Amino acid sequence: MDVKPPFKKTYYYRPNYLLPAIFSRNTIDGVYKNLEIRDDDTFLVTYAKSGTAWTNEMLKAILHVDDLEYLESVEFYKKLATLEFGPADHPDLVEENVFCPKSFIEDFIKDTPSPRVLSTHVLPEYMPTQFFQKKPKTVFVSRNPKDAVVSLYHWHHSIPFLSPCPWELLCEEYIKGNSICGAVWDFYKKWSKYKQEAWMLWLTFEDMKADPKQAIRKIADFISRPLTEEQLDAVVHSTSFQVMKERNERAVNPEFFFPNGHNSGESGKDGETKPKVQWQRKGQVGGWKNTFTVAQSEAFDKVYKEQMKGYEDVMYQF
Ligand code: A3P
Repeated sequence: MDVKPPFKKTYYYRPNYLLPAIFSRNTIDGVYKNLEIRDDDTFLVTYAKSGTAWTNEMLKAILHVDDLEYLESVEFYKKLATLEFGPADHPDLVEENVFCPKSFIEDFIKDTPSPRVLSTHVLPEYMPTQFFQKKPKTVFVSRNPKDAVVSLYHWHHSIPFLSPCPWELLCEEYIKGNSICGAVWDFYKKWSKYKQEAWMLWLTFEDMKADPKQAIRKIADFISRPLTEEQLDAVVHSTSFQVMKERNERAVNPEFFFPNGHNSGESGKDGETKPKVQWQRKGQVGGWKNTFTVAQSEAFDKVYKEQMKGYEDVMYQF
């Protein structure tokens, strides 16, 4: 019997592995699984709301350092292309006529010249077949799971492909392992197996915040695109929170996501007025303390500690 997911616009892709409806099962099992990986591809692996867009723009800025205007001109969805996205074929999305008629990856394969940045949120076993054969350079970014779920809560309330839900419910389900990229501990445990591989660079959101220049230097050296001091400063500037925020507000072709005026702040069918999507919301470390109650925090810590036993090298201390 199918288990009912805890939130609208989500589904169990496999038992105990919840995904947002916008991550199409057909895409993951089909065109994504069969993706042909190129030698100069760079993958970016993150759990939801853990600095994907930020790191993605760092990678693109490094690759286009001689023409940073590129970040301004590239179409919005191509900048953010997360490979599992679309088409919006899940009944909850069809019912609300939510955007995204095609899978991102089809356009991505067709339109994106090398070197490509490929962004993904799935567990290792659902990566393209060629991934573990070719072992492309892969940047992994981890984020404090409490900050990530608070960010996710705001995301549920602003992005049309998710449904608003009370914080208490979202937090309770997160502690049970029900969240839109699956249980947060599964994600880190499974990916940590590759942390020491030469093809993987493991970064944290917190270190990136503390010293963005150093993070960019590491990424640039890792993808064999070392930068001069001047270039590093330019990339730091163009990927800073404020500059990214302003750029995304001027984004090219945001209608790709929001053809129905979903980003206008108008009421959606669920009756709630969704605020304008904020790709850059706060961008801070430790903000979870303003949202978690003490009881919620303790409940999370208990499960997290049990689950992360033996994985202390990728575990957060709160
Ligand atoms: P908050 O909601 O805590 O502010 P993702 O891109 O994986 O969805 O992650 C989103 C989180 O990254 C959001 O966190 C967002 O504000 C933050 N973020 C995006 N761009 C950033 C930047 N340039 N600097 C710092 N944080 C950034």
